Amino acid sequence: MRIIEPVSPGEYQKYYDLRWKVLRAPWNQPRGSECDARDADSTHLMMIDARDAAVAVGRLHFNSIREAQVRYMAVAVGQQRRGFGSRLLQALEEKAASLGAACIVLDAREVALGFYRKQGYSADGPGHVLYDCISHVRMHKTL
Ligand SMILES: CC(C)(COP(=O)(O)OP(=O)(O)OC[C@H]1O[C@@H](n2cnc3c(N)ncnc32)[C@H](O)[C@@H]1OP(=O)(O)O)[C@@H](O)C(=O)NCCC(=O)NCCS
Repeated sequence: MRIIEPVSPGEYQKYYDLRWKVLRAPWNQPRGSECDARDADSTHLMMIDARDAAVAVGRLHFNSIREAQVRYMAVAVGQQRRGFGSRLLQALEEKAASLGAACIVLDAREVALGFYRKQGYSADGPGHVLYDCISHVRMHKTL
């Protein structure tokens, strides 16, 4: 497994495809719903296997000069709970620190709270509710 920043159209296709499959398709959301306006000025990381298949993805953008935000963390179904998500999150944190971030915030799906707690994130309070059913919790980690 190795972590890359997607560059080519083919790499970006794999990146967004995994994001859509894990975070949107189970809620019957159309292709394209996995993207937002901040994608253009974000850092994207993707873990790929020996055959260049996408295993894990995640995005980093800045809310201010010192505050970075992680979004769209997704590990392929069948590859979860093998340490890949934590490796990718760590790489996003290293990238954030290298770009000058002092802290990272994120909105964790309630089902993923335990994952982020294990990576050192603290809960700050309720976040948004997606599709009327996916509750989020705002979390932060000081770098
Ligand atoms: C949440 C997610 C990104 C975690 O990635 P992962 O590769 O499965 O997690 P890891 O294997 O790196 O887990 C690291 C630790 O967190 C724990 N963990 C992982 N997922 C967890 C969860 N949903 N709840 C509680 N603990 C969890 C693991 O048991 C592991 O603990 P350990 O180090 O003591 O063994 C991944 O499971 C996923 O894509 N889930 C579906 C989409 C999702 O919910 N994304 C988050 C949106 S905010």
